[in-house]
Amino acid sequence: MTPTVAAFPAARLRRTRSTPAIRDLVRENTLSVGDLIWPVFVRDGTGIEEPIPSMPGVMRRSVDKIVEAAVEAQTLGIPAICLFPYTDASLKTEDCAEAWNPDNLTNRAIRAIKSAAPDIAVMTDVALDPYNINGHDGYVVNGEIINDATVEALVKMTLAQAEAGADIIGPSDMMDGRIAAMRSALENAGHSNVMILSYSAKYASGYYGPFRDAVGASGALTGDKKTYQMDPANGDEAMRLVQRDLNEGADMVMIKPGIAYLDICHRVKTNFGVPTYAYQVSGEYAMIQAAAQNGWIDGEQVMLESLMAFKRAGCDGVLTYFAPKVARLLKG
Ligand code: PBG
Repeated sequence: MTPTVAAFPAARLRRTRSTPAIRDLVRENTLSVGDLIWPVFVRDGTGIEEPIPSMPGVMRRSVDKIVEAAVEAQTLGIPAICLFPYTDASLKTEDCAEAWNPDNLTNRAIRAIKSAAPDIAVMTDVALDPYNINGHDGYVVNGEIINDATVEALVKMTLAQAEAGADIIGPSDMMDGRIAAMRSALENAGHSNVMILSYSAKYASGYYGPFRDAVGASGALTGDKKTYQMDPANGDEAMRLVQRDLNEGADMVMIKPGIAYLDICHRVKTNFGVPTYAYQVSGEYAMIQAAAQNGWIDGEQVMLESLMAFKRAGCDGVLTYFAPKVARLLKG
């Protein structure tokens, strides 16, 4: 669209910025509680809320505490909660079998949340890294992250999560062919209503640092994830990945990280017109919190501004560690 604007002084664009009422009237985008997906970290034990130093304000919670958090989130009107397990080092193996254990942390948390807070959607993460002795999202054979055997493992993981009651499966592994494999396994197992929110355009990013501390994967990771996660230099490739995942049966797609990839968010929404989400990742959260704690920025203002930016770029929603804070703020 080519903007039409009269010459000064017929047009004084400050007129529509002149008062709060007029600014409300012309506002093009809104941020609401319904836009939020809350990522949370689950750990073993009971009664535990353990702060994560690199993510001020974020905790690892035992299943009982996750349930309390989910109940609060549901009350606040947050539509979805997304689970990430902090897996004990003793459960990490080469074959990653803990990933599809029906009683692993994630699956126990899903069941507990579904019975205590049935109205909040439960989303999961599908990738092998929390269970892998070498910290990678896929199997490593002779130093190579192998695709097809990884997809078979991811399918088992998906089915265990669906069986436990997950509403939305979130494959974050970036293997090829995983969406089709998961979709057909879900259909065959009678889980035709379980959705897939694919991490379609996930970049090999430095912004994931604090998350890897949070799930205890930092120490374990050998090398980097560049043979499966995307090169930050690429945009067209993201369109191919989104197209491919939609063709394979993804219901919704995600761009990750967020703020540095708003061009991708905008292109995806404009080109495909599908439910599009951004993940405001751990490093983005940590940067805002750290600067706010130092008094260098107004944390609340930057939090809201960053989330509004996702909406303006075309996203339908955002995965953000700020979710409960924003929800409380929006509720007044
Ligand atoms: C793992 C996974 C990662 C994140 C979500 N799922 C990290 C990674 O790929 O190394 C990052 C989330 C964040 O940084 O907040 N498959």
